[in-house]
Amino acid sequence: MKMFNPVELIKKKRDGGKFSRGEIEFLISSYTKEKIPDYQFSALLMAIYFQGMDFEETTHFMKAMLESGRSLDLSFIKKPKIDKHSTGGVGDKVSLILAPLLASCGICVPMISGRSLGHTGGTLDKLESIAGFKTDLTVKKLRKQLRNIGVVMIGQSPRIAPADRKIYALRDVTATVDSIPLISASIMSKKLAEDLNGLVLDVKFGNGAFMPEYRRAKELARTMVKIGHRAGIKVTAVLTDMNAPLGEYVGNSLEVMESIEALRGRGPEDLMKVTFTLGEEMLRLAKIKGGRRLLRKKIASGEALEVFKKLVCCQEGDVLIFDNILRLPIARRRYSISAEKSGYIHRVDTFKTGMLLVELGGGRLKTTDRIDHSCGFRFLKKPGDYVKKGDCLVEVFSDNRQRARTVCKELREVYFITRKPFPKRKLIREIIR
Ligand code: URA
Repeated sequence: MKMFNPVELIKKKRDGGKFSRGEIEFLISSYTKEKIPDYQFSALLMAIYFQGMDFEETTHFMKAMLESGRSLDLSFIKKPKIDKHSTGGVGDKVSLILAPLLASCGICVPMISGRSLGHTGGTLDKLESIAGFKTDLTVKKLRKQLRNIGVVMIGQSPRIAPADRKIYALRDVTATVDSIPLISASIMSKKLAEDLNGLVLDVKFGNGAFMPEYRRAKELARTMVKIGHRAGIKVTAVLTDMNAPLGEYVGNSLEVMESIEALRGRGPEDLMKVTFTLGEEMLRLAKIKGGRRLLRKKIASGEALEVFKKLVCCQEGDVLIFDNILRLPIARRRYSISAEKSGYIHRVDTFKTGMLLVELGGGRLKTTDRIDHSCGFRFLKKPGDYVKKGDCLVEVFSDNRQRARTVCKELREVYFITRKPFPKRKLIREIIR
């Protein structure tokens, strides 16, 4: 590999230059092998954040990240291999429901996910709130698990997507997440390592998304669909509204609890709508008939929940949570936030909600921060709902009194209540195939 001077490359991007493939390969490979320190790579990420990368650079960046580790070879699996990924939201626990649900429909789901990022939650952190759950499996073990139950849920590792593992953690704490080329490269490098036939992307827009503006979310969706098609897999992007937390619960173990409820047929309407829409797209890519009816049937029969139990068991998590949900670490102390006036909920500041979870201990401010899996919120009202003065809007779960006090004070400001009725938003805006 040709060598370059990292300082010169940072300067080049800072001044609006375009990287060659060789320069990008050098940067990604050197950072992954720890030959470029975090402080230089942080500066590089910030330069990319401000100056952007065109489609060609983004593709080289994604490929270099993909090639930093090994890709799975799942040719021994004869089922369709389809996965989903979200660009990140608040209360977005759809992966926890969809992966076992689609596996119960006969699809192989080799899901590689991430940790919480910025104000958004991460599938790995949620799963790790189940005592003992392992998200770092050997390739041998994950192949065996895929053969036996058709689903794994793992994280980036020193073997698979190692560049994304490092860059993702660094972006989380350097305010460089919300960049179209960086999100596209991060997501697609993980997904293309999975040896997939098809991928469904949940691209969020709204005040809780990394791309709040619809136009930018659509640009992100188009970029990833194009990268996927060029790599020879079928990709669908569903643009979904993230102007309110998805479902009722936000917080790691609370979201696992809500996902189990959803697999028992008791999921809230908005959560199930997004889950079923993405699930239908996954079935369509897999050429499996039945659509939403099949998904509902697998939940009603208990088959989807059974696959989730097997997944938890195979990945060494505490399966007794399915008999006693209180085995999950759920904070004992609860605080209620009530409406200070009557009226219609016009807006929920979803970004702030996500940041308040971080403040409560449910996310990270530094890469080394430990997460408190037990804390979180329950949102009882959504935009468009009518509330009376004194009605409970949010319940806060936290065993840390001091943090809870500060967060409760700020949470009062996330709801905007007006006298005029406000129509409910459409959750699914567009599907790009
Ligand atoms: N999800 C990812 O995997 N990467 C991002 O950059 C954002 C969301």
